[in-house]
Amino acid sequence: MRIVVVGVGYVGLVSAACLAHLGHRVVAVDSDAARIAALDAGGMPFFEPGLQPLVAAGRASGALRFATQLDEAALDAELLFLAVGTPCGNDGSADLRAVEAAFAAALRALRPPATLVLKSTVPVGTHERLRRRLAASDETRGIALVNNPEFLREGSAVRDFLRPDRIIVGADDEADAQALLRAYAPLTDAGATLLRMNPRSAELAKYAANGMLAARISFINEIAQIADATGADIEEVRAGVGSDPRIGADFLRAGIGYGGSCFPKDVRSLIHQAGAHGLPAHMLRAVDATNEQQRALLFERIAAFYGGEAALAGRRIALWGLAFKPGTDDLREAPSLAVLDRLLRAGAQVSAYDPVALPAAQRLLDAPGLRWCHTAAAALDGADALAIATEWGEFSAAEPAGVAAALHDAAVFDGRNCVPADAWRAAGLRVMQVGRPAAGEVPAGAAQRRRPNWNNSTMP
Ligand SMILES: NC(=O)c1ccc[n+]([C@@H]2O[C@H](COP(=O)([O-])OP(=O)(O)OC[C@H]3O[C@@H](n4cnc5c(N)ncnc54)[C@H](O)[C@@H]3O)[C@@H](O)[C@H]2O)c1
Repeated sequence: MRIVVVGVGYVGLVSAACLAHLGHRVVAVDSDAARIAALDAGGMPFFEPGLQPLVAAGRASGALRFATQLDEAALDAELLFLAVGTPCGNDGSADLRAVEAAFAAALRALRPPATLVLKSTVPVGTHERLRRRLAASDETRGIALVNNPEFLREGSAVRDFLRPDRIIVGADDEADAQALLRAYAPLTDAGATLLRMNPRSAELAKYAANGMLAARISFINEIAQIADATGADIEEVRAGVGSDPRIGADFLRAGIGYGGSCFPKDVRSLIHQAGAHGLPAHMLRAVDATNEQQRALLFERIAAFYGGEAALAGRRIALWGLAFKPGTDDLREAPSLAVLDRLLRAGAQVSAYDPVALPAAQRLLDAPGLRWCHTAAAALDGADALAIATEWGEFSAAEPAGVAAALHDAAVFDGRNCVPADAWRAAGLRVMQVGRPAAGEVPAGAAQRRRPNWNNSTMP
């Protein structure tokens, strides 16, 4: 089929490359000319495992093309996916400006019969509102509108798209969905579950899925706080809870909170949507508040260890992990950035390393006191303590003896419970994790001892 995808971000580029892989002819359009030029030159705008070969194969066969202008690309399109961003507005609402702009451009460019597919995550009622606009003029009445929320996860996006748990198709009537169902036929023929529903349900199902996953994370983090206070071990608790098949162990990892481009904004958008109907959204507010509290945890632990925020001035902290989760270079709402910001504001020096997200971080940030490092070992060089903000496999597998030899204060703040704590303690390190008893055993201010004359340190 002839398909256009508007928005060449994490969702749009993966969708375009996968649809081309499934045998369609795809033009991927983005208003960011630099992004399109880079793709045309064989580059990739972000890191996503398995995506680059798929894009390269699509370009080589001619099945996948890139463009900055919709007009020519959409002329003979049967399907046009809108996959632009829907970030969080100041009041928590979804900012639909990109959707509105792309929708208007699509209406100008499409020639009926054609189907517009809303793949962006949009508040309940958006489909209905846009459909009324299509129905308002003779020129656009022949354009069908379908809601098709995306559930891929960064880090496994290609696999998720090609082997989805479910494909949700929200359409007002049977005919509207036909072209989209044909596009997905290679997936549904191979056994993918197709869920047909009304567009409002499709819109809410997407938000509810992210709200549920965020709720599980905040729930286990709240239990981790209780474990910290009572001496229970959250990893043992997780095993005890997660082995119940009604509950399951996924998304029950304690840590320094969720981040990324979806959970924070989708939880807030849900709260906003509930508010618009006079609903209090008690649970979702608690999910968000617990996450905010958890994001501060790593910094607070480090500050407490050194005897207060003021004592951080001049200390060098190695920060391992910048991406909001392993497998991606996405830094949007990454908890690492909250830690980094607080450390720098407290006057600490930070040596930051991430196996994949370093270039993205370098483009985003620059500050006195911040040193970018190209290896985990380089970040430890001259550091007093180590903070871990992303659970990359390379960190769990690091050699603790080397870490112990490098760190002046032998202190490790593992915000993701990802290092084998016993082995690291056996190497002489103090390892503080989330919701695990040893964290409480280290008295606050235990590291008030200080090495002499480091840099501009004001420490005694
Ligand atoms: N990232 C994820 O893991 C994920 C997963 C599922 C759903 N979603 C949803 O999918 C949507 C897209 O998310 P994303 O992470 O891919 O966003 P993104 O920010 O990575 O990409 C959006 C792209 O759209 C382009 N764009 C914006 N306005 C445009 C316009 N008018 N015309 C052409 N291009 C335009 C931007 O330049 C950018 O490249 C969001 O609604 C998000 O909530 C994201």
